[in-house]
Amino acid sequence: MILFFCLLYAAVALAQQPPTPTDDTVLGTDFLDHDSPISSYFGKEFLKQNIPYIDIPDANIEEVYYYRWSTLVDHLRYTTAGSGYILTEFIQPVGYAEEYNTIDAAAGHQIDEARWLRSGFYAGDYIQIYTRGPGNTTQYTNWITDAAYRRAHVNGDVEFLTSQLDGFVRMWDEWDFVFDSDVGLYYYTPVYDAQEYSLPGYVEAAETSNSSVQLPGPNTYRPSHNAYMVANARAVAETAKIAGHNTLAANFTLLADTVETAMYEHLWSADQNFFVDVIRPGNPNLAQLQGREEVGLFPFRFGIGLEEEYCAPSSQELFNPDGFYTEYGPTTLEVRSQYYDAIKPSSYCCYWNGQSWPFSTAHVLKSLAAMHRSDSCSVVAEQYYQYLSIYATTQHKDGKPYVAESHYPDLDSWSADSFNHSEHYDHSTNNDDVITGLLGLVPRLDGILQISPIIPSNWTYFALENAPYHGHLLTILYDLDGTRYGEGSGLHVFVNGQRIHTGPDLQAEVQLPESNIEGGNGINDTVPVNIAANVLGSGAYPLADATFTFTLDDPYKSIDGYLFYYSEPDNRWTNYGSPNANDTLKITFPRPRTFSSVTLGIYSDVARNGTVDCPQAIEIYGSDQTNGSVLLAKLDPFDTCMPNELNTIFFDQTVESSFIAVNMYNKADLFVGVCELQVWVPPDRTTGVYYAVDAVLTSAEVVFSPTEANATANGAVVGYLEDGNSVLFSGIYDHGKGTGPREALLSYANSGDSAAVAEIVVNSSPGVANNTVSLPPTGGSFTTVPLQLDLLPGSNFVNVMVQSGYDAVDLEFLHVI
Ligand SMILES: *[C@@H]1O[C@H](CO)[C@@H](O)[C@H](O)[C@H]1NC(C)=O
Ligand SMILES: *[C@@H]1O[C@H](CO)[C@@H](O)[C@H](O)[C@H]1NC(C)=O
Ligand SMILES: *[C@@H]1O[C@H](CO)[C@@H](O)[C@H](O)[C@H]1NC(C)=O
Ligand SMILES: *[C@@H]1O[C@H](CO)[C@@H](O)[C@H](O)[C@H]1NC(C)=O
Ligand SMILES: *[C@@H]1O[C@H](CO)[C@@H](O)[C@H](O)[C@H]1NC(C)=O
Ligand SMILES: *[C@@H]1O[C@H](CO)[C@@H](O)[C@H](O)[C@H]1NC(C)=O
Ligand SMILES: *[C@@H]1O[C@H](CO)[C@@H](O)[C@H](O)[C@H]1NC(C)=O
Ligand SMILES: *[C@@H]1O[C@H](CO)[C@@H](O)[C@H](O)[C@H]1NC(C)=O
Ligand SMILES: *[C@@H]1O[C@H](CO)[C@@H](O)[C@H](O)[C@H]1NC(C)=O
Ligand SMILES: *[C@@H]1O[C@H](CO)[C@@H](O)[C@H](O)[C@H]1NC(C)=O
Ligand SMILES: *[C@@H]1O[C@H](CO)[C@@H](O)[C@H](O)[C@H]1NC(C)=O
Repeated sequence: MILFFCLLYAAVALAQQPPTPTDDTVLGTDFLDHDSPISSYFGKEFLKQNIPYIDIPDANIEEVYYYRWSTLVDHLRYTTAGSGYILTEFIQPVGYAEEYNTIDAAAGHQIDEARWLRSGFYAGDYIQIYTRGPGNTTQYTNWITDAAYRRAHVNGDVEFLTSQLDGFVRMWDEWDFVFDSDVGLYYYTPVYDAQEYSLPGYVEAAETSNSSVQLPGPNTYRPSHNAYMVANARAVAETAKIAGHNTLAANFTLLADTVETAMYEHLWSADQNFFVDVIRPGNPNLAQLQGREEVGLFPFRFGIGLEEEYCAPSSQELFNPDGFYTEYGPTTLEVRSQYYDAIKPSSYCCYWNGQSWPFSTAHVLKSLAAMHRSDSCSVVAEQYYQYLSIYATTQHKDGKPYVAESHYPDLDSWSADSFNHSEHYDHSTNNDDVITGLLGLVPRLDGILQISPIIPSNWTYFALENAPYHGHLLTILYDLDGTRYGEGSGLHVFVNGQRIHTGPDLQAEVQLPESNIEGGNGINDTVPVNIAANVLGSGAYPLADATFTFTLDDPYKSIDGYLFYYSEPDNRWTNYGSPNANDTLKITFPRPRTFSSVTLGIYSDVARNGTVDCPQAIEIYGSDQTNGSVLLAKLDPFDTCMPNELNTIFFDQTVESSFIAVNMYNKADLFVGVCELQVWVPPDRTTGVYYAVDAVLTSAEVVFSPTEANATANGAVVGYLEDGNSVLFSGIYDHGKGTGPREALLSYANSGDSAAVAEIVVNSSPGVANNTVSLPPTGGSFTTVPLQLDLLPGSNFVNVMVQSGYDAVDLEFLHVI
């Protein structure tokens, strides 16, 4: 079947390429150079489209700012067409990560950073992986709900925020298992507060003569975890208020107050003048630990302890060399502690008894900003700037911007930095601190733009250009004498290219104009989806293979959803060493798909003395039902090729094909490589039919040609399901019908002689009483059973888990009526 574009040409063409910012009709300003600051990074097109630019009289902070944007992009992983993007912690997959290679520990930091990308769906997709999808929110302590709430302060999308409320409540309830209601606090082992080898572990090991406890640490009531929970509860309460759920709001305010009160009562140490840990086992009197840890500085960023008696003495320790102050600090444990180690005692990655850790530094920067902005803490702008500068200096290696896992507090060297693993570690914020701290864009939910920079007194200028904010692009210029930007002296604010404020003061509160908020993930969201991505791994569908592959590369890496162009860490397919003049990379879909373009992240290392470069020529093949293999596009020469960028090649027809084959011709004496192959199509918001073969399968696989399956053109279904196998459908849209039970049909076949059971879980919320459905024998024929699904506005996850003693069940589709 061939469909030529005739109507909606522009909309369709847009949907056939990588998603561009949803607000791309909004114009910004052009005061700054948008090319030079990013010239040394790959993926420049993405950066130019998505990042706010800055201009400040501090080359160190400015350089690290652009570096951190380039590395954030390395951690955006495309998962599936229904689930969209996540952010990873490590650049390569790690074994202990949870579904889709997510780790929740730093998700709050990642959301804070990604909320400043102009395309709102990156942060939105990632939030929904936790609020509705398979992300594990009790693997590590986290403040995801708080971050999701504060993200709405940036994009203004309260509709999206309130639509996540059920998930927020579920995520809160999940932590009940470590809540001590007698004490009013949460406890957990420090290792799952992301901090192994920290003070409680050392103290407990000494007291119990059990050195094994040093790494995980004993169950401990910590200021970090409990502050996260207070912040999460307040975010639930505020979101509930906006949604008009006043009882829920009152309940969560009470929960937040209860935990906060218990923090002051049990975790504030009057003799150490600091929030400290309390070990739980064998400690009925809740004796506090002796020794200050950096986690004692986290509560302030969440608005806890911003009164002089708490914040003044706490902040002083940051500037005391016996406290946390070192050249590359702050340290994770105070220097004066007997357990402090400036040098790690082993090669194990993670020691939080001294090492300087970007994760904690990011929290501390936010605490310092909060302290500075509260009237009672005596933290001056220069102190905030001092730590932002130390942080930028720390984030270097061999004279270039760099971030790894942990840094020696006194040495110009990373202490946890392993090859092909720690590079560009995404476990902290930096740019959020530059924007909201240094440059003073203080996000709010209302229509008032609040500007309150925390800059040194001798700065005479700064600019923040085209920051996405409440559906606008915002530019803030400060020019003491008017010579830097030629716009006159003082503070200037531009919204969508129009000046809306000029004033003599650094501080301002400015009414914003109305805007159309479209943050992505909205009910009518039309963000294109990539149908080539394979989150499950090599061997599952879509399949990737090639006529030749260099031994250290893998065709699967061209569809694994990770996209970066470094030589090392590596993530690509190449034909390096191939005897062929041309090689073909082929992706096979589980069922025929309709598309009209392909997007290639072309790898080229010739500028790095390698021998892989853009192809000389390129041919794209697909199939159709009648003609077999057909040529869809040919570029000879491929002289539009942009190395280490996404290149979209449009066909002059739309094709329905079960594969796409990209035949690439080498340039003389060179080879070709692809970091990622993507096929972008508009999301299907019309049929309500979701195929099992497109879903995320656990211990289940795609099979073909069952006798009666006719939902997919090639007879592809998920076959032979048995106990514990699951099919996770995502991107299930409510089709504008709003919250509530929706009729649906599940198409299945049961070739056994007894009924199987399917457990249906919508949006990871197991609380529904009637969530099982019986699948009686069908003699192997497909039939449908009715279901009721409690769908939420926007994108939903529906997990179908089969319980059947034998492998007799096949699933074809879920049809939401
Ligand atoms: C989440 O992670 C924790 C810790 O690894 C584990 O105990 C729990 O079973 C996981 N939850 C889910 C839903 O996978
Ligand atoms: C020592 O600590 C480890 C880690 O917490 C624990 O699993 C083990 O049971 C402890 N051993 C004894 C004898 O208490
Ligand atoms: C509020 O808390 C009360 C007491 O725990 C509970 O009975 C009620 O169901 C809660 N209401 C909501 C909307 O959460
Ligand atoms: C880097 O790690 C990836 C993922 O584990 C692996 O496939 C690749 O071979 C490694 N590269 C090098 C150069 O070791
Ligand atoms: C501000 O003063 C500090 C300390 O004298 C100096 O190091 C810095 O370069 C000055 N910055 C500017 C922008 O003048
Ligand atoms: C979505 O589309 C429907 C139908 O066109 C419209 O009624 C509704 O207002 C739209 N919703 C949003 C949030 O744009
Ligand atoms: C090289 O290109 C030719 C012409 O399209 C094609 O027939 C052949 O299969 C290609 N070779 C490989 C190894 O892909
Ligand atoms: C490439 O090789 C040349 C000559 O050996 C060397 O001068 C240059 O630094 C190398 N460039 C890179 C990026 O490695
Ligand atoms: C398939 O074959 C028919 C009949 O020869 C032709 O009209 C059509 O254009 C072909 N399709 C493609 C994609 O080449
Ligand atoms: C198979 O196709 C027939 C005819 O189009 C249709 O009536 C039937 O409902 C389909 N069955 C399934 C399971 O989709
Ligand atoms: C819920 O109950 C209805 C009516 O008994 C039944 O048809 C349905 O299959 C059950 N399960 C689900 C998940 O809706």
